[in-house]
Amino acid sequence: MEYMTTNVSQKPEAFSAIPLSKIACNDKLQADVFIKIGEKFIKFKEQGDFIPEEKYNYFISMNVKELFVLNAFKDAFQVALEELKKEKIETLVTEVGEGNRTLVEQQVALKEIIYETFLDEVLSNETVEILKNQVTSFIEIVKNKNPSADIFLKISSMNNTVAEHSMNVANLSLLFGMAVGQNNPIVLENLYMGALFHDYGKAKIPESVSGKPNSIAYEKAIKNHPEAGVEMLKKNPSIPQPVLTIVAEHHEQFSGVGYPKGISKDAIYGLSRIVAIANVFDNVVTENRHNKASMYKAAIKVLEYDKGKQFDSTLLPRILDVLKLSLGNFNREREKKAIG
Ligand SMILES: [Fe+2]
Repeated sequence: MEYMTTNVSQKPEAFSAIPLSKIACNDKLQADVFIKIGEKFIKFKEQGDFIPEEKYNYFISMNVKELFVLNAFKDAFQVALEELKKEKIETLVTEVGEGNRTLVEQQVALKEIIYETFLDEVLSNETVEILKNQVTSFIEIVKNKNPSADIFLKISSMNNTVAEHSMNVANLSLLFGMAVGQNNPIVLENLYMGALFHDYGKAKIPESVSGKPNSIAYEKAIKNHPEAGVEMLKKNPSIPQPVLTIVAEHHEQFSGVGYPKGISKDAIYGLSRIVAIANVFDNVVTENRHNKASMYKAAIKVLEYDKGKQFDSTLLPRILDVLKLSLGNFNREREKKAIG
C-alpha cells in the first residue's frame, strides 16, 4: 500500500495515539492522520480526507489498532470525534423516533466495541466479555421495545467494512430469530454473537492474499474462511460452542450444495440457517445501496426466488412477512413525506 510522502519529520514524542475504533470510516478527518510503521510515523491521510472502506478492512486484516495525530491537534481531534458521534446519534434518533433513543445509543456503543474486537490481534477474554455485556444489554432493550423491522433497517449501516457488515447481519439475525419465535435471551445472544463473528476468518485473511482476488490462494482462503474463523475464535474459551457452529456453517445451504461440509436441512444448526439468510440479505442490500428506493426490494426478491435451495423453506416465509410489512411501512412513510 502506498502512503503520502511527508515533510513532517517529528520525534515519536510529538504524536498521540487515537484508537482506530473511534474513527468511523468515511468520516471527515479533522487533522492530518499518521500511521506508525516500525519506528517511523508516516502521514496516512490529510485533514479533510477520510478513511475509505477498503483501507479500514486492510487495518482489520493487519490488526492495526491505532492511528496518530500530532500532539497539538489531539484534543481538538477528540472533541471533533465526540461531536460527530453525537450528531450521528441525533440524526438516527430523528429517523427512528425519540422513543428509540436508548436503542440508538446502545447500537452506537456496540459498534465501537465491535470495531475494537475486529481490530484486536488476538481476541482477549476482556474484549469478549465487554462485547458480550454490550450485546446482552442491546438484546434486552430490543426485547423490551420490540422495534419493528423498519427500525432495524434504519439503524443498519451502509458502510461496507467487514465489521459493519457483521453488525448488520447480527441485527438482522436478531430480527429474523424473533420473527421465527426465538425468545430465549441466551439463544438470542448466541445468535447475535455467531452472526457478528461469521466472517471473522475472512476479515483476518492477510493482505498478501486478499490483495490478489483472482489467485488460487485467495480462492482457497475464501473456501476455508468459516473453518479458519472457528480455529481463531476457539482459542478463546469464553466463546460458546453455538457461536462457533454458526461461524462454521454460515455458507452451508439448505439443499446441501454449500460449503465447507455440504450438509443439508436439519443437519445444519437452526441458528446457522437464520444467519445464512441475514448474510445474503445484507450482501444484496449493500450491492444495491446506490439505489435506496429498490435496495430492500432487490434483497427480498433474492430470498423469495430461492425456493428451498439456499435457505430453510420453513423459516423463510415468516422472515419474508416481517420484511415485506416493514417495506410497506417504509413506502407509506415516503409517500407521506412527499405529500406533506
Ligand atoms: Fe462468509
